[in-house]
Amino acid sequence: MYFRNKNILLGVTGGVAAYKSAEVIRLFKKQGADVRVIMTESAKEFITPLTLQAVSGNEIHDSLLDTKAESAMGHIELAKWADIILIAPCTAETIAKITHGRADSLMGAVLLASNADIFIAPAMNMNMWLDDSTQNNYKTLLKRGITFIGPAEGEQACGDIGPGRMEEPDKIINLISSSFNSGPLANKTITVTAGPTREQLDPVRFISNNSSGKMGYSIAEAAIEAGAIVNLISGPVALNANSKINLIKVNSANEMQESVMDCMKTSDIFIGCAAVSDFKSSDISDTKIKKEDISKIDIQLEKNEDILANVASKYKSAYVVGFAAETSDVVNNAKKKLISKNLDMIVSNDVSDKAIGFDADENEVNIITKNESIFLKRDKKIRIAREILNFMSLKIN
Ligand code: C5P
Repeated sequence: MYFRNKNILLGVTGGVAAYKSAEVIRLFKKQGADVRVIMTESAKEFITPLTLQAVSGNEIHDSLLDTKAESAMGHIELAKWADIILIAPCTAETIAKITHGRADSLMGAVLLASNADIFIAPAMNMNMWLDDSTQNNYKTLLKRGITFIGPAEGEQACGDIGPGRMEEPDKIINLISSSFNSGPLANKTITVTAGPTREQLDPVRFISNNSSGKMGYSIAEAAIEAGAIVNLISGPVALNANSKINLIKVNSANEMQESVMDCMKTSDIFIGCAAVSDFKSSDISDTKIKKEDISKIDIQLEKNEDILANVASKYKSAYVVGFAAETSDVVNNAKKKLISKNLDMIVSNDVSDKAIGFDADENEVNIITKNESIFLKRDKKIRIAREILNFMSLKIN
C-alpha cells in the first residue's frame, strides 16, 4: 500500500498507449491511492471516459470552461488536491504545451497551478521523440524538475522500432514510488535470483534441488525496504513476494539466464541467490519417457551456463554479489569463487548445518569481499538480508 492516502492525478492524452491508462489507475489504486483523471479530447478517441471513470471510481475531468464541472471540483482545487501528477501517455503536443506554459486546457491550467511532483511518460513515434523540438522541450522540462519515465525502446504501433513506446504501467508505478524513497538504495535497481531451477527430463520429470527461495526473497524484501527498484527472478517456490517487487517466475536455468540478462540492462546491482541447477538434460523428451522403454537409466547431462559469472563478465559496471553454499572450509572456498567469477562480494554459508541450510528460516553467513571477511551470527533470514544490503550500500554509495 505504498500510495496509501496519496492523491494521484493522471493526465491521459491522445496516443495508442492510452489503453494502458486503465492499468496504471488499477495499480495506483491497488497501492492505496485515490486517483482522478484528466482526459484531453483526443485521448477519448483511444479509450472511453466511461472506462477510466469505472476503474478510478471518480468522474472524469475534461473541461476548463464547464461551469458544472468547475463547481464540482474546479481546476485550482484539483491542482491543490494532487500530491502527484502523472501524464501517461504524454504526446509530443502536450510536452510542447507544458514547455510553453499554455493554460488553454484543463491539463495545462492544472499543471501551472499545482505544486505536486510531476511525472511524464511520453509515447509517440520515434522520429517525433528524437526531433530537435521535442528533445529541446524535454531538456527544458528536465531542468524544471519534471521527471520523465521512458520512453521505452521497441516496436511501435506504426511499425518503427526505436524509442517512443510508453513505459509499462508496473514500471511507471515502481519508478514513482522509488523516487519518493530515501533509503540507502533509493534510485538503484537490483536484480535478485532466488529458489531452485527445474531442468526437465521429459514433460513430467525434472532435476532440481531443495532450495526454498527464502534467502533470495528476504534479500528482495530488504532491498524494497532500502528504497530500491527490485526485479526478483524466481524458480519454483512456495513463497509470496511483496507486491512492490517485479516478480518474474521461471523454471529452467536457461529461462533464468534470459530474464536476468534482460533485467541487467537497466540494473545497478545483481545478487545471485538462486541455487541454479548445475546440469541440464542434453535431450529433453517431448513425451513422457516410459518406464518399460528404459532398461537402465542413462541420462545425458550437460553443464548449465553460470549466470552469476556471465553477469559479472558482461555488466562490468554493475555491483555483483554471489552466494556460496559450502560444506567445508567455507570462507576459503567462497573466496575462491569470488575471484574465479570476478565478483564484488560473496556471501557464504555452511549448508551442512541443517539449522541454517536450504529450507531453514535462519542463516549464519560470512560476507566476503577482496579485502574483508565479516561474520554475521545466526539470525532470521530477513535480518541477515538487511545486514548484507546495509554493508553493500556502504560499498556502492
Ligand atoms: O559455483 P557455485 O554454484 O557454488 O556458485 C554459487 C553462486 O553462483 C550463487 O550465487 C548462484 O546463484 C550462482 N550460480 C549461477 N549460475 C549457475 C550456478 C551458480 O548464477 N549455473
